[in-house]
Amino acid sequence: MKGMVLTGIKPTGTPHIGNLVGAIEPVVRLARDYDRSTIFIADLHALNAVTDAGAIARWTHEVALALLAAGIDPDRTLFFRQSDVPEVYQLTLLLMNVTPKGLMNRAHAYKASIDANAAAGRDPDVGVNMGLYTYPILMAADILLYGADCVPVGKDQKQHVEFARDIANSFNTLYRGEHLRTPEPVVFAGGEMIPGLDGRKMSKSYNNTIPLFASDKEVWNLVKKIKTDSRGVGEPKEPDSLSLFQIYRHLGTSEEAATLRSDLEGGIGYGDAKKRLAELIDRRLEPFRAAAASPGAEERVETVLREGAERARTLARETVATVQQAMLGRSAV
Ligand code: TRP
Repeated sequence: MKGMVLTGIKPTGTPHIGNLVGAIEPVVRLARDYDRSTIFIADLHALNAVTDAGAIARWTHEVALALLAAGIDPDRTLFFRQSDVPEVYQLTLLLMNVTPKGLMNRAHAYKASIDANAAAGRDPDVGVNMGLYTYPILMAADILLYGADCVPVGKDQKQHVEFARDIANSFNTLYRGEHLRTPEPVVFAGGEMIPGLDGRKMSKSYNNTIPLFASDKEVWNLVKKIKTDSRGVGEPKEPDSLSLFQIYRHLGTSEEAATLRSDLEGGIGYGDAKKRLAELIDRRLEPFRAAAASPGAEERVETVLREGAERARTLARETVATVQQAMLGRSAV
């Protein structure tokens, strides 16, 4: 497809198989589908919630390694770590001046926090930092810095892309010119959700995940914990109501899913079904384990990210120069 697609992935936990099918693989497909693609690890976006620097650095590396192992080609995709491009700090501050406070008041994540405080009878701003409040401006800077045409989003991020459009449009109106390209949100073809071990959405906040870099032994110990009902061997099962089948279906081929479905309906035991799921997970995790175990993996990821950032900065400097010229009557030095 024509144009440039852009997305950021926030490193707020160790990547797991829910992230694999919901974000990592769909992002790799998008990068293949578009003429140009920009993908970055949005570590600055983690800062309003995570204060453990070591954890942010580790998760950034794990997410980057996972994206590379899943097929991101850093020669074709502009691939970097957000904080390696300091121009994003500059653009964020400049854009604050064209962003109405009322727009930020309407942001879903911020509103959820103040509503929760109000419901608990607390001061509405308890626990709300300016990183959370201005999160959409940082995200607009990400999008506008590189001149993205489209930003794939699930439901939770659509408002942010609309804000980026609003901010670009106000800028272009106030400073009379097509300085910033307005992005389109495109509905994310991927974005599938899989259940975790307890049947709720797989998410690190529920502690119900299967990590991408788990060993086969760890995988088996987790798979054993997946909740089922109490039907015994020989009794027909209901595949669609089973987390174990939902996970299997998202990771396997349609033939594999059809076979497990009919075997479950035919009465195979949960123990056998779990063995099959663990085998499938092991097969799917193999490229990630291999990438993590290969000598020098950490340094290679770091080099790829830094080289990507150098290329990203060339674009970013131009945008900051354009914006400074329009706002201050001088371009960046
Ligand atoms: N806010 C996004 C999320 O939480 C991550 C993100 C940061 C992003 N910058 C972006 C997504 C720019 C798309 C475009 O998932």
